[in-house]
Amino acid sequence: MEIIIKENGQAASEAAARVVARLVREKPNAVLGLATGSTPLMLYRELIRLHQEEGLDFSQVTTFNLDEYVGLPPEHEQSYRRFMNENLFEPINIKMENTHVPDGLAADIPASCAAYEQAIVEAGGIDLQVLGIGSDGHVGFNEPTSSFASRTRIKTLTQQTVAHNARFFAGDESQVPHHCITMGIGTIMDARMNIMLAFGANKADAVAATIEGPVAAIMPASVLQHHPRAKVFVDETASSRLRLTDYYRWVYNGKPDWQRDA
Ligand code: F6R
Repeated sequence: MEIIIKENGQAASEAAARVVARLVREKPNAVLGLATGSTPLMLYRELIRLHQEEGLDFSQVTTFNLDEYVGLPPEHEQSYRRFMNENLFEPINIKMENTHVPDGLAADIPASCAAYEQAIVEAGGIDLQVLGIGSDGHVGFNEPTSSFASRTRIKTLTQQTVAHNARFFAGDESQVPHHCITMGIGTIMDARMNIMLAFGANKADAVAATIEGPVAAIMPASVLQHHPRAKVFVDETASSRLRLTDYYRWVYNGKPDWQRDA
């Protein structure tokens, strides 16, 4: 794993955006895996800026989102489809038909999940997956004890995640769906590169356990220790519980330019 510690979330997001941008320039028909939530917002804003000011071209890019709430129609204010449309897809030149978010209204959820997996395979697999992390260590909505072999499926959110996400539903926990469709950990591990972002003190314990703790299903993100190309972008506060911060900075600062955003 490569650990990139920046002074704040904006600087970390800009560094992550450079990795995404380099991939899209080198492979214009790249397949991106995307996340929602608060964490990737600065990354998406930077990608929009790179599109508008530097001509970063998304016209051949395909995307697959990690997850969606069960029961929310795409136009619902808190659906992840709407989040993606507003925060990334509409301001860039991606073709909407090339963007994929799991179908929260699917009548046959297992069939819809299998079709999602198949669509990823048919697109050539995910080149780069963007991840946030829950304070309990979840990735996508793979909550603690999720199987490392799991594929796209329905999951029940923990009470902690429901409470955490209530802030998007006017603080009303009763409005937060308890079920979601999420890519599995196996699906995420199939991506050729994973980049995780984590900001703020409430992520510090999960970040430390993910990077320096044992690999265990109780801390789902720790599986990234087994990924051949995983980068973790953190701000100072999210890095505060790591033991080897001096080493991570030493490695990053010593990188040759050609390797930096690869
Ligand atoms: C969202 C997702 C989740 C979030 C995580 C962190 O698509 O997959 O794993 O990344 O819950 O959420 P925020 O960024 O809101 O703290």
